[in-house]
Order: sequence, then structure tokens, then C-alpha cells
Amino acid sequence: MNWLLILLQTGLSEAALRFGCATVSSQRLDPLVEPGKIPSSHVHQIVGGNAFNATMTGDIGEQATCTTCVYTEDFSNYWTAVLYFRHENGSYKRVPQYPNAQLGYEGRDDPTIKGGMTIYYTEKDFQSDGDDYITAFKPGFRMTVGSPTVTNLSEAQRYPGLRYTCLQDILTRGHETYALPSQPCPAGIMAIHHFMSCWDGVNLDSPDHQAHMHNVKAPGEGGFTNAAACPASHPVKVPQLAYETMWNTSAFADMWPADGSQPFVWSFMDDKGYGTHADYVFGWKGDSLQRALNSSCMFHGCGSPGMPGVLKTQPVADMNRCAVENTVTEDTEGWLSELPGQQMK
Ligand SMILES: *[C@@H]1O[C@H](CO)[C@@H](O)[C@H](O)[C@H]1NC(C)=O
Ligand SMILES: *[C@@H]1O[C@H](CO)[C@@H](O)[C@H](O)[C@H]1NC(C)=O
Ligand SMILES: *[C@@H]1O[C@H](CO)[C@@H](O)[C@H](O)[C@H]1NC(C)=O
Ligand SMILES: *[C@@H]1O[C@H](CO)[C@@H](O)[C@H](O)[C@H]1NC(C)=O
Ligand SMILES: *[C@@H]1O[C@H](CO)[C@@H](O)[C@H](O)[C@H]1NC(C)=O
Repeated sequence: MNWLLILLQTGLSEAALRFGCATVSSQRLDPLVEPGKIPSSHVHQIVGGNAFNATMTGDIGEQATCTTCVYTEDFSNYWTAVLYFRHENGSYKRVPQYPNAQLGYEGRDDPTIKGGMTIYYTEKDFQSDGDDYITAFKPGFRMTVGSPTVTNLSEAQRYPGLRYTCLQDILTRGHETYALPSQPCPAGIMAIHHFMSCWDGVNLDSPDHQAHMHNVKAPGEGGFTNAAACPASHPVKVPQLAYETMWNTSAFADMWPADGSQPFVWSFMDDKGYGTHADYVFGWKGDSLQRALNSSCMFHGCGSPGMPGVLKTQPVADMNRCAVENTVTEDTEGWLSELPGQQMK
């Protein structure tokens, strides 16, 4: 079943944001887990505001001057690891990203969004009656979901919102797996990252970047399925934040290994996919996110280039123009003999 149809049928009474952000940077920096470390352990792909750097403190909504997201008040940073293709001959090549479907405003001749991700801020899920009050994140808020140290399925199931979809076409949804797809996927691989959506209401961060958050979903439940109420320990319902990254594997279609093994590997040397993880630093300007959440807008209805809404927007050309100059200058794009920062195994 198409998730968009589910949404339209249930009639949310609070906002659901879905929007595109172009790539703002791709390099070995990790201001959340390894602040100040230049370079950090593995390559990331980052979208959002241009305040991204090795160290990030304070309210980045007041520090950034441009954003690669369609909503111009959103200076948050969103990032994940990078997917690589491992050739039978031992060399690696970065898998390019491509923009999701239905991000542009139909009828316009905007250029294509450069790489990036699709970002969601929804209610607790797509199937609720939408009557929960959703509190926006606060300046300085940050969190992660998943962990590169996870190496098996039972551990991965602690994070039911982290999945993969083997794309038959750009609109394939459902059939989510915890592991990277074992077969070639005609339209690439979609990596899905749902964050935890209950907050302790006090801490903007925690030592493991997760303890201030709580996951109300059980193993087996997909990311956009129904969720229980927040527990007393983490009573504040924050938006269900989710990323979708579309990895375009078509350049490698004719290089699938002869032994049938799946050839894709995350930049932290994970070819199972269980260690998938994502990072978030809140950076919406002022009360803009709460303003949107308080409304009952949905997707393009919240604002889209050429379509006014509760949020201000910018054209794709301006999204693509915003960039952060690399602090870590190394080749992450060509055919590489090893993954940057990773020891050969
Ligand atoms: C990032 O931080 C370094 C110092 O750690 C600084 O030299 C550089 O200008 C900063 N980059 C940006 C884009 O702010
Ligand atoms: C592996 O194959 C790729 C694609 O043909 C090629 O560009 C690369 O140089 C090869 N690496 C080695 C070590 O032969
Ligand atoms: C999965 O990994 C965890 C942590 O390394 C370990 O404790 C557990 O025994 C493993 N489970 C299985 C089924 O291999
Ligand atoms: C995917 O990559 C191929 C090149 O390998 C390119 O021709 C195609 O346009 C890309 N698809 C999208 C949707 O960007
Ligand atoms: C959002 O709604 C709450 C509760 O009705 C209200 O207190 C708050 O001022 C609103 N915030 C914005 C930015 O609209």
C-alpha cells in the first residue's frame, strides 16, 4: 500500500513535513560523536545549514547563513554514513545519491536537487488520529539513532526504524529489511532512518546521544507504523524525524560479483548494513518549526517553491548553491584502494 494514500485517508489534524535537502558537504567530520576530530573515523554525507563543522555548539539556527533544504528557516544538519560499492578487484567507489520522487513542484522547470536526502517531521506515525500535541526540538538539541558497532540482526532490532528498501522503481515502498538487500535493485537502495520520538524534556543531548530519547516502536514494526504513548521517563512527544536516502546503484549494475555476494558497504566497513545510523542537530530559526507543527499543513501544503504555505521556501538552484568547504581534503569519490579511515579487514 502506498504510504501517501494511507496519509490522505487518515486525515491528520497536525502537520506532516516532507521536503528535499541537497548535499551541503561530504567528508570525514562528525561534530556530534567525534567533536573536534579532524578527520573523524568515517565518511559522512550531510545536508542542511552551512554552520556544519568539526565542532558545533550553541544555536546553529543563528550561525548558518544558507541551507540546502527547501525551507529557508531550517538550518539544521542531518547526516548519515556514505554507501560504497566494493568491486571484486578490491577497489571501492562511492555510490551517488539521487533525489526522491515528488519533491519538486509539478509544472516548474527547476534544476534537479543535488544528491541529498528527503526529510520528514511527522506526528508519532502516519496512522494515528493526529490529536497529540507535538513539541518542536529546542536550540542546541541533538541526537543519533543506530550505531556503527551493531553487527547482527538481534542488535539491529533495537532500532526498528532503521531499514532498507530495494527499489524496483523510485516509488517502491514497504518490503523493508534490516540488512542491505541481497539482490540487485533496479532503482537503487533506499536507506531509511527514523529517530526516536519521545524526549525526556530536559536534556539537549546525552553522553551516548540517545539516552535523552525513547523509542516507542517494537521490533517488527516499520518506521511509519503506529506507536504507543510516550512513557513517564520521556514524556514529551517531539516530531517523528525521518530521513530517506536514495542510493543510485545503477553504475554498478554490470559489476555484481560472480560469487553472488552483495557488494555494497557503508563507509564504516559494514557490508551487512546492521550498523546503519544517523545524526541530527536541530537548527530551525526561531519558532518556525513549532509554527509549522501547530498548523495542519501536509507536505507541499506546508510550502513549496511556487506554492505559498506556513513555511518560507527557496528555489532548487539556491538549495544547490549552499555548500560547506571541506575541512578534510582527501579523495572520497574516485576508485579507492581502501575506505577513508578504515583499516583493511
Ligand atoms: C571550521 O572550523 C575550522 C577550525 O576548526 C575553521 O578554520 C573553519 O573556518 C571552519 N569552517 C567553516 C566553514 O566555518
Ligand atoms: C577495479 O575495477 C575498477 C572498475 O573497472 C577500476 O576502475 C579499478 O581501477 C580496478 N582496481 C584495481 C585495483 O584493479
Ligand atoms: C549480537 O551482538 C551482540 C553485541 O556484540 C552480542 O552480545 C550478541 O551475542 C550477538 N548476538 C548474536 C545472535 O550473535
Ligand atoms: C543513476 O545513475 C546513472 C548513471 O549510472 C544515471 O544515468 C541516472 O540518470 C541516475 N539516476 C538518477 C535518478 O539520478
Ligand atoms: C503552538 O501551539 C501552542 C499550544 O496551542 C501555543 O502555546 C504556542 O504558542 C504555539 N506556537 C506557535 C509558534 O505557534
